[in-house]
Amino acid sequence: MSTLAIKGGNPVRTAAFPVWPVFGDKETQALTEVVKSGTWGSLNGKKTTEFEEKYAALQDARHGILLNSGTTALQIALKAADVPAGSEVIVPAYTFIATATAVIEMQCIPIFVDVEPDTFNIDPEKVKDAITDKTAAIMPVHFAGRPANMDEIMAIAGEHRLKVIEDAAQAWGAKWNGRGVGAIGDAGTFSFQSSKNINAGEGGIIVTNDDMVAKMARSHINCGRSDDGMWYEHFYFGGNYRITEFQSAVLLAQLERYPELHKVRLENLQFLNSSLASIPGINLCKDDDRIAHHASHLFVFRYDAKEFNDAPKTRFIEAMREEGIPASPGYPMPLYEQPVFRKKAFGPRGKTIDLPVDYASFDCPVSDRLCKDEGIWFTQNTLLGSTKDMQDIVDAITKISEHSDEL
Ligand SMILES: Cc1ncc(COP(=O)(O)O)c(C=O)c1O
Repeated sequence: MSTLAIKGGNPVRTAAFPVWPVFGDKETQALTEVVKSGTWGSLNGKKTTEFEEKYAALQDARHGILLNSGTTALQIALKAADVPAGSEVIVPAYTFIATATAVIEMQCIPIFVDVEPDTFNIDPEKVKDAITDKTAAIMPVHFAGRPANMDEIMAIAGEHRLKVIEDAAQAWGAKWNGRGVGAIGDAGTFSFQSSKNINAGEGGIIVTNDDMVAKMARSHINCGRSDDGMWYEHFYFGGNYRITEFQSAVLLAQLERYPELHKVRLENLQFLNSSLASIPGINLCKDDDRIAHHASHLFVFRYDAKEFNDAPKTRFIEAMREEGIPASPGYPMPLYEQPVFRKKAFGPRGKTIDLPVDYASFDCPVSDRLCKDEGIWFTQNTLLGSTKDMQDIVDAITKISEHSDEL
């Protein structure tokens, strides 16, 4: 193959990859129905109830509570599951900021632990090491749509009597050992923000098999009301975290599309895994046999610079982009290195709130390497491409591998 595009050669491709969201008449008709119905809010909203029931069933859960984001879903789930203020909550260092800030919002202390290199998911052994007498909960993240090892996490939680709140923001439909993720622990949360595989612009859902968690979550998102109380009667502390019927209508349409789009993403993910397996320096993830459904939100691998003439990951990504392939570096640093954690800027206007933990002392080497040196992502819209599109990704990586001296 010719010179790398980054050195002036011809790129592997110039065509764009599929754009997201995918939508059509289903969404516009559903939205028009809501406009005409006059019921625009979710209270008494048929679309909201219908989606909650369908989504809970998808995750094998008894309850689904829709609300306005995946971030607030995490906060409300922690609250409804009665994770006490001041307690420690174990979270992975490699995740989106909301996993950890939800813990702060609930006046708890996030304790960061490392992830496994071949799944990018929380390492159960590291969870064990992080447990203290202040630990109240574990929050595994099903990163990229690949379920975390829930057997191990539930066993640890059982032994230490800890709550488990699953951050399944990226894992719609995912199944671990025959069960939908989310309701394996005390509660789990999903995101429907615009980059997600099921998209309502913004939105989230809490799923649970615990009737009390469901009742409290429903009240906390609705100003502390109770189903059998009066409108201006407030039994608990709550806020307005409700979704709208417009979003629920779009969600129902997106849920109908999900199986077909998922099939495409999954086939492409499998194609990439098998086609890239023999390229030196491209370390693929491992899928546990207990994963019955991988949600395919991202295709990720670990880049080994040693096999690419010691070119840093940033250079590899630049080279990929010049070849016409939209690769992403993902999270830039483990969460404990984020300025908000380093400065403990958790108060109003960034004022310090001095939690009894030193975030500068955390060291999660796997997460650190994934962020800075190794982790490469391809987003779900890329995975909606044709087999030829996937072959272009493989060709670009092969080309860069064969011409790594040009990096
Ligand atoms: C792992 C994880 N947790 C939580 C969230 C927050 O979801 P939302 O953006 O809907 O608030 C996201 C969204 O990117 C996420 O990826």
